[in-house]
Amino acid sequence: MPHPLLASATDASKPIWLVTEKTWSEIAGGLPPVAQGFAKAQGFEGKAGGHCLLPDADGNLYGVAFGLNGADAKRNDPFLVGKLPTLLPEGVYRFETEAPDPTLAALAWLLGSYSFNRYRKRSEKSVRLVTPKGVDAEEVSHIVNAVIASRDLINTPTSDLGPDGIEAAARALAERHGASFTSIVGEDLLTQNFPMIHAVGRASATPPRLIDFTWGKADAPRVTLVGKGVAFDTGGLDIKPASSMLLMRKDMGGAAATLALASMIMDAKLPVRLRVLIPAVENSISSNAFRPGDILSSRKGISVEIGNTDAEGRLILGDALALADEESPDLIVDFATLTGAARVALGPELPPFYTDDDALAADIARHGLAENDPVWRMPLWYPYQSQLDSKFADMNNTGGPMGGSITAALFLRRFVEAAKAHVHFDIFAWNSSTKPARPEGGEVQAARLMYALLKERYGA
Ligand code: BES
Ligand code: MN
Ligand code: ZN
Repeated sequence: MPHPLLASATDASKPIWLVTEKTWSEIAGGLPPVAQGFAKAQGFEGKAGGHCLLPDADGNLYGVAFGLNGADAKRNDPFLVGKLPTLLPEGVYRFETEAPDPTLAALAWLLGSYSFNRYRKRSEKSVRLVTPKGVDAEEVSHIVNAVIASRDLINTPTSDLGPDGIEAAARALAERHGASFTSIVGEDLLTQNFPMIHAVGRASATPPRLIDFTWGKADAPRVTLVGKGVAFDTGGLDIKPASSMLLMRKDMGGAAATLALASMIMDAKLPVRLRVLIPAVENSISSNAFRPGDILSSRKGISVEIGNTDAEGRLILGDALALADEESPDLIVDFATLTGAARVALGPELPPFYTDDDALAADIARHGLAENDPVWRMPLWYPYQSQLDSKFADMNNTGGPMGGSITAALFLRRFVEAAKAHVHFDIFAWNSSTKPARPEGGEVQAARLMYALLKERYGA
């Protein structure tokens, strides 16, 4: 089923002329005089991101002119047309001039139509787009549905989406695709040897858990996704200041990205053996909370001294990665809102990724550009490993004051040995302000590019 905002070419629709400052005068010359005159009176010149509603002779809507970026590809936003659904009146539209990348344009339209309306009534206008020629409506719809379901999860406050809610969302997705699903909850984490997941999550009224589902043919290439599912991160006893805590419902953004990617893989029936692991916890404060200075054992046998209870993501991921690694998969991909330092390095819109596999890194960079899902490689710089030395244990969970995203990645790396490849994405999972196709609020980062990569590698 294509997305409800995609229309078919046989539906009555209004034309949108995608123009640039260079092409506008020629396109304007082909318009009826009323439309042409009105655009001129409005001062519309085809500037990037500008639009003009064009009237017919009776004053009804004739069509729309919209300014695209010019020729400088590096400075362009392929999602610019994602502005249109919020600008235009209800109706059905078509691109009269072809978009530079019609699939990204359709994607931008649908992603730009999203808003999070769970807690207030909004009159929803339906601004539809005729599926552009050459665009696979089914595939675009699958990708968009995956992304918006995960945006909803990130946006939902912890009062309505704790570790149990993350489990329910994962279970629903798994069941829809006939995946086999288990979850190890509460004290069972100790008997089944996930001590770090238990330690981080035990102070919450909602018990911690490890979500685990598997889908696809047993003999297909093994791809395992691991997502940080911290339903809320208070920082634990090394408590976060108010301004840093405010948005910490998004600390399950890694889990949300993982579920989005899993949804795309299963919808497309990619021939892989998919496994999804989500350690889901709430990093809370209570008399039984883990403490600074505690020394935890871990599934892998590495002992970990707690330098700061706010470095909790790497702890729960350490146990989940160790489990993932036990079946030596072909690829482990983890997504985590792991460090503030990643934002200091690259800002909120460009998540760093870490891998020792140069060919994989090149593929990730290429697909990130092609899908407009940008990421940037940062180094697993092993000389910084010594920042994680502990006086009493095998490792400390915090490094020094600098290079925090790198030392966090190095921490995770210690728990992966047997997998053929491993990549870690340190994501932000949030749009701080509204940009075309990226409404303010929860965002899925790096999942679309990994879907494109897996499709290229393993697709039929
Ligand atoms: N969830 C945070 C990281 C985070 C903060 C991601 C803001 C995105 C935006 C993580 O658990 C954390 O608190 N990390 C600490 C680690 C430090 C204590 C070593 C950080 O980055 O400050
Ligand atoms: Mn934290
Ligand atoms: Zn966190």
